[in-house]
Amino acid sequence: MSDPTGEQSRPERGTSEELARMRVDYDRGGFDEADLAPTWWEQFDGWLHDAIDADVTEPNAIVLGTASRGGDVATRNVLAKGVDSRGLVFYTNYASDKSAHLLENPRASATFSWLPVYRQVHLRGPVEQVDPETTLAYWRQRPRGSQLGAWASTERPQSSLLSSRAELSEVLASLEQRFEGMDEVPLPPQWGGWLLRPETVEFWQGQRSRVHDRLRFRSIGDAWVVERLAP
Ligand SMILES: Cc1cc2nc3c(=O)[nH]c(=O)nc-3n(C[C@H](O)[C@H](O)[C@H](O)COP(=O)(O)O)c2cc1C
Repeated sequence: MSDPTGEQSRPERGTSEELARMRVDYDRGGFDEADLAPTWWEQFDGWLHDAIDADVTEPNAIVLGTASRGGDVATRNVLAKGVDSRGLVFYTNYASDKSAHLLENPRASATFSWLPVYRQVHLRGPVEQVDPETTLAYWRQRPRGSQLGAWASTERPQSSLLSSRAELSEVLASLEQRFEGMDEVPLPPQWGGWLLRPETVEFWQGQRSRVHDRLRFRSIGDAWVVERLAP
């Protein structure tokens, strides 16, 4: 409702009105074709480092979108652990719900949400499993605690039902015992990487009054074209 003083009253907490009123004007400058690096991966590298410099929390977190063959859709965060001209790598359990989607419908989307700098990067394309040597090289870099966590999601497959937190603690305790004294925790079966090979990579920069800049690299055979999308 309008207020004669011109000031808006504070909406009640938790209401749709509170959500509807939330508005930030994105004012961090323009983003033009002339600003783009020659390739999507160089452009990505530049923006990733801007996000790191801006202290974005978990700048390598992506919202990963997958769909079953029947069209059941799901998204969740995973951490990107590799990027090069071929695409983006993340690691997970091959028996998880997301891997079940990817095994029956090997396509995905990945969105980096770098909100403090009013940016997002959105990739879409086919996925394939990472070769076991690459997975093993990454596995060896992981801290022992994370390795045991990955084993826990093999003992109790990721996304399966648990009776309680205590059940998980018992699994972890027995894994600690199993690998006690071993310098290297072995790679669990059913754990590894996925490579998303993008066909499109869109760079989105928020602008004032919702007139945002969207520039997209799209692959055509071995070449990439740059296209501007309506906001
Ligand atoms: C910031 C963040 C990072 C995450 N990184 C990973 C990851 O790299 N791999 C993974 O399997 N799950 C990761 N997760 C957990 C997933 O979001 C998800 O809960 C889990 O993988 C099960 O997903 P699914 O049931 O769709 O397979 C992360 C969650 C958050 C919030």
